[in-house]
Amino acid sequence: MQGRLDMEGALTTRDRVGIQDFVLLDETTEVAIISNLKKRFSKDLIYTYIGTLIVSVNPYKDLDIYNKKQMDVYMGVNFFELPPHIYALADNAYHTMLTEFNNHFILISGESGAGKTEASKKILQYYAVSCPSTTLMNTVRDKMLMSNPVLEAFGNAKTLKNDNSSRFGKYMDIQFDSQGDAVGGHILNYLLEKSRVVHQNHGERNFHVFYQLVEGGSDDLLTQLGLKRDVQHYYYLTQGECAIVSSINDKNDWKSVKNALQVIEFDETNTNHLFRVVASVLHLGNVHFDPDSKGHALLKNNTELNWVSDLLGVDANNLKEGLTFRKIEAKTEQVLSPFTIDHAIYVRDALAKAIYGQTFTWLVNRINESMENKDSPRKTVIGLLDIYGFEVFYVNSFEQFCINYCNEKLQQLFIQLTLKAEQEEYEAEGIEWEPVQFFNNKIICDLVEEKHRGIISILDEECLRPGDATDLTFLDRLEEKMGNHPHFVTHRLADKMTRKTLERGDFRLLHYAGEVTYCVVGFLDKNNDLLYRNIKNLVCQSKNTIVRECFSAVDTTNKRRPETVATQFKNSLQKLTEMLMAKEAWYIRCLKSNESKQPGMSAQKRQRRLIQSTRLFYDLCHPITGQFDEALIRHQVKYLGLMEHLRVRRAGFAYRRKYEDFLKRYKPLCPATWPHWRGMPADGVEVLAQHLGYLPDEYKMGRTKIFIRHPRTLYATEDAYEKCKHDLASKLQAKYKGYKVKGEFKKQKEAATKIETCWRGAQARKEKEKRAWAVKVIKKFIKAYINRGEAKSTDNSEYLAFVRQSYLNRLKNNLPKTVLDKTTWLTPPAVLTQASEILRKLHYRLMVRKYVRGIPPQKKAQLQMKVVTSAIFKGKKENYPPSIPQLFLDTRISEQEINIRVLSMIRNEQVKYSVPVIKYDRNGFKPRPRQFILTKTAAYLVEEAKIKQRVSYNSLKGISVSNLSDGIIVIHITCEDPKQKGDLIIQCEHLYEFLTKLSIIANKQDAIKVVQGSIKIQIQSGKENSVDFTTGQEPMVYKAKNGHLMVVATRTRTR
Ligand SMILES: Nc1ncnc2c1ncn2[C@@H]1O[C@H](COP(=O)(O)OP(=O)(O)OP(=O)(O)O)[C@@H](O)[C@H]1O
Ligand SMILES: [Mg+2]
Repeated sequence: MQGRLDMEGALTTRDRVGIQDFVLLDETTEVAIISNLKKRFSKDLIYTYIGTLIVSVNPYKDLDIYNKKQMDVYMGVNFFELPPHIYALADNAYHTMLTEFNNHFILISGESGAGKTEASKKILQYYAVSCPSTTLMNTVRDKMLMSNPVLEAFGNAKTLKNDNSSRFGKYMDIQFDSQGDAVGGHILNYLLEKSRVVHQNHGERNFHVFYQLVEGGSDDLLTQLGLKRDVQHYYYLTQGECAIVSSINDKNDWKSVKNALQVIEFDETNTNHLFRVVASVLHLGNVHFDPDSKGHALLKNNTELNWVSDLLGVDANNLKEGLTFRKIEAKTEQVLSPFTIDHAIYVRDALAKAIYGQTFTWLVNRINESMENKDSPRKTVIGLLDIYGFEVFYVNSFEQFCINYCNEKLQQLFIQLTLKAEQEEYEAEGIEWEPVQFFNNKIICDLVEEKHRGIISILDEECLRPGDATDLTFLDRLEEKMGNHPHFVTHRLADKMTRKTLERGDFRLLHYAGEVTYCVVGFLDKNNDLLYRNIKNLVCQSKNTIVRECFSAVDTTNKRRPETVATQFKNSLQKLTEMLMAKEAWYIRCLKSNESKQPGMSAQKRQRRLIQSTRLFYDLCHPITGQFDEALIRHQVKYLGLMEHLRVRRAGFAYRRKYEDFLKRYKPLCPATWPHWRGMPADGVEVLAQHLGYLPDEYKMGRTKIFIRHPRTLYATEDAYEKCKHDLASKLQAKYKGYKVKGEFKKQKEAATKIETCWRGAQARKEKEKRAWAVKVIKKFIKAYINRGEAKSTDNSEYLAFVRQSYLNRLKNNLPKTVLDKTTWLTPPAVLTQASEILRKLHYRLMVRKYVRGIPPQKKAQLQMKVVTSAIFKGKKENYPPSIPQLFLDTRISEQEINIRVLSMIRNEQVKYSVPVIKYDRNGFKPRPRQFILTKTAAYLVEEAKIKQRVSYNSLKGISVSNLSDGIIVIHITCEDPKQKGDLIIQCEHLYEFLTKLSIIANKQDAIKVVQGSIKIQIQSGKENSVDFTTGQEPMVYKAKNGHLMVVATRTRTR
């Protein structure tokens, strides 16, 4: 990008010389125009615009402005943004074609040597490089490019005006597809200057190909064709006496041509036959005649003739006969009439011209076939018209007449399309307009081509009329008919002064580009362009396929005279004009900077060059009038109508468009017109123009069209449109993408739904199966359930197994955790009642076992004692349950607490347990605190150091306690023992512990009785009392009135 800017910068700076567009000149005088051209030319700026028209001045030297870099700079850039260049025009035409999808043509005009062919080649090269292309396109592109060297070799020649002068008219269509790819090409060729094959003026050459073949062809090829490597040897090549020219390198050009032939896919046979035709012409030129005694033509040497017959593949004798005799068909027989030498030469030359001319057309057709594109139907074209330029020689003949007429036609087309049509359009559209005067060359065109009255008609009449018509009679007829035409003059018709400049056999036309004097000699012959039938028949049978093809197309049996050359040419130009009128035109007006083909340089340099020049002689003969020959340029500016064009341009409008079309294209630029304008198109355009901010001076509204004065207004609009197009495209793209994605989403959703449905179906089917299975299972289950009580059968076996397993499983998780837990046990099903019971027992045993194993020895002893306690009291005495958790101690009175005397008395009996008790006297029931000591053999009631009572275990009859929660113990002692004082009543806090120990030590478990109500006591033998038990608010022990010991116990709350 930077590079590009730099380059553009450099270009613009350089190009600040003069004015780039004549439209911007302060004054539209000829002087101003020429001075601007000269200024720019002196800095090698050869291009200048008049609006979109390019004026190009031939620099006659290679300028470094046609490279790839330059092409890149001009690619896709608005016309006026960069300095004038032929690439800008090419690019603009191309882009207009693409956006508007219509056909275009580029009219390149200017006199011979002005640079038309070069311009057309530059444009072609530009398209070849800048258009997008594929491999396929590349071959088409190469073929288009390569058609040039071939056609130039066969159709161009050195003239006095131009070393590479086009001697045929060429219109080439480059076809583009809708993408802008160059996909094909087609060439139309116009009237080749065939006379050059047999005759060249002094200083001119035949067509290049002849010299190229002789100079460049390989030795082998030349031998095959019977040619010598010496151009001077050939009569047809040497008449102009300049066969070798320093500016032309025939050898190199030959290589290019051979290479080009390959690119355009000429096979070996075709190439070979083509060279044979070229060689045969050279040989034919060297066929000379001698007069016989009667002055009839005799062939001088047969060698050349044999070569011709060999190369063309025709019979030598027949050829010889054809060249020296005319066959006249008289009724039934044929008569041979011998030729004079002149006549024979005429026939020889006619043959040479015919062969070469037809081969040239064949060549164009072959190239067209090779470039043809049949594929893409939507094609638009850019046509390049490069025709021989207006030329004036010392002697001008029929060819110049045709060439200059052709240039008149193109000038007329230019006038039609620019000056006339433009001004008429303003008028028709009602645009205020001051007409610009211009010279309309229609008058000259009419002079030449008008039916029955024009020069061509008169020429044709002379050619066709019976009798002795000659070139001079033709001139007479012209004088007769054109007598007072302002653009026609002859020796006879001229005034005295003019007459001096005219020969008798001349006529002069005042062409748009200047006066040209034509010599009538040869007009009739050239217009007739006759080939005798016997010669025609001969070449029809040629073994050279090209020749045969060419001539068999010409109907030899048709006796009607074919159209004359001039008429054919006139018709083909008419067709060309019509075709071009249907296309949009672009113009390049080429100017010749000087007559001597000299490059522009400073005066000193020019001088130096003159002195050094090897071409000194030539230069002296053709004095240099200056590299920028003002007079020459002025002349061209004048006749090319540049001034008028400029005036129309300046006053006029650069752009116009039908309201409908303008609106259609630019309506997206204004909200009021987008997407639809419902009113009249003109109103829509007005709204649009207002919206775009067009100033009143910048545009005009015609009857059917809008006219925009400056290109910049249009370019700004176009730029806005481009931007808007992108925005619109993005919007459309987004919409489309959205639409596509939505579609995609819908599809996906549908697919998902489908999958879901299928999945659900599958699931449902599975579920159904499962349910069916479940129903079966449940049914079976129910049936089994009903039959569960019955013996195991197929109906219930499974169920029972299930019940069993399920019960066992549940049981496993719900087993009682402790031995004490007697409630937790799952109710078994009927089948498992027995098993459950066994299991329950097993489990309890297991728990017991575990428990038992886990008990330490002391606890075991404790428990064993508790078992004893339990056996005695459980369920019998009220305060037994709360006593269970209270641990039994080994003793309640330690040995230290027992009086030492007591201790010494009973030591040998081993003290097992001692406990403090309260002893109630037997009579008064007075409570007395005592120690109760159990030894191995007896129990002692001790008060301090006194043993109050000893009860041997043998005399221990029984022990009674109440069922209440008191601590009263009655120990029954055998009364027979006189020492005993009767039953002992004591109260012990640790009743259970004490009694358990006593029962174990004395082994008296069965002796302990739990009594309700009262306990009888033996006080002394035979004397009794009673201890009564009752319950009350507070525990009390007292002697009741009845003499009984009354014990009141509180109620122990049962949990
Ligand atoms: N743009 C250019 N840059 C350099 N040299 C040029 C340029 N245009 C033309 N010339 C020179 O001028 C010569 C004549 O140009 P060209 O053959 O294009 O003329 P022409 O208008 O086609 O003539 P004719 O009508 O005789 O065919 C070229 O051979 C070349 O030397
Ligand atoms: Mg040319």
